[in-house]
Amino acid sequence: MPIIRAVPIGAGHYLPKRMVTNSELAQTVDTSDEWIKTRTGIESRHFAADGEYTSDLAIKAAHDALTNAGISAKDIDTIILATSTPDQTFPSTATKVQAGLGMTTGFAFDIQAVCAGFVFALATANSLIVSGQSKRVLVIGAETFSRIMDWEDRTTCVLFGDGAGAVVLEAKECKGTSEDRGILSCELCSDGNYNDLLYVDGGVSTTQTTGLLRMQGQEVFKHAISKLAAAGEAAMVKAGVISNEVDWVVPHQANLRIIKGTAKKMGVPIEKVILTVQDHGNTSAASIPLALSVALKKGQIKKNNLILTEAIGGGLAWGAVVLRW
Ligand code: UT7
Repeated sequence: MPIIRAVPIGAGHYLPKRMVTNSELAQTVDTSDEWIKTRTGIESRHFAADGEYTSDLAIKAAHDALTNAGISAKDIDTIILATSTPDQTFPSTATKVQAGLGMTTGFAFDIQAVCAGFVFALATANSLIVSGQSKRVLVIGAETFSRIMDWEDRTTCVLFGDGAGAVVLEAKECKGTSEDRGILSCELCSDGNYNDLLYVDGGVSTTQTTGLLRMQGQEVFKHAISKLAAAGEAAMVKAGVISNEVDWVVPHQANLRIIKGTAKKMGVPIEKVILTVQDHGNTSAASIPLALSVALKKGQIKKNNLILTEAIGGGLAWGAVVLRW
């Protein structure tokens, strides 16, 4: 039976100019290139310049995605921006992006599911398109996590970076089979009992400060592989596909050991996993669209490829999406 699906028609990204290697970080933080590489796979990350905000990164990624899709901002009716590092508490950073793109119609809003934000944003965009509310959605993940690092805490400050990625989704009539292009399934999960594993120690309603990132890394690690693999498998079942059919896994890029462990548990060889963690570090909600866009530009991901994307982060919140590019 014909159905409406959210079909990707373009992707783009932006990384701030300043690239910082592990060795450069080790000049001011009690760490080493060896430790960071061995424990996380990270070799370098990018940091936004003074006065360069999350919305600035998002607007540049959005322009790149619109160009890649061959459309202009006036062709978009919805912007969803996943971020935990908004320019301000309100208005939404998405509305700043809307203005920055010169859009005066449609609607824009932020989504906050920390590192799982882009997966939650994709699922929300999918629902808006399938329900008929939206025709073309710009889904962005953009972060400036460098602004919420405690530079005295070596267990966290070496892990994160800044960046933005974006995908354009369009409503298209499809056959209603797993051969269709577009989003085939979404699996979203959260468990607030784990709030204290990964959080910022401030907030508008509590301290009236922004707060800095705090993480019990080992505890998050313990949950990550099993929860990500379970979400990935559930999404594949919903989509009616099996792991052998997956062309590319595009995971949240937090830690190479988590990425490898999750792929193995889902039965996907590491050669089919897009890896950018070495160059970007953990860019939270931006990591998946960044990886997608980089892989498209490199010619790794091609039209009709079956993609599984998965992420976990603060909340804990996690999930997976299966889509055909
Ligand atoms: O994106 C949201 C989801 N977040 C994640 O997925 C993160 C999940 N967690 C992780 O990726 C890992 O737990 C970390 C990379 C954060 C840490 O790796 P680990 O293998 O769990 O290391 P650890 O915390 O057990 O620390 C091992 C040792 C400790 O020293 P002792 O106690 O064994 O002497 C730490 O003090 O490494 C030490 N250490 C460091 N040494 C050099 C911790 N951070 C550093 C550092 N440089 N930056």
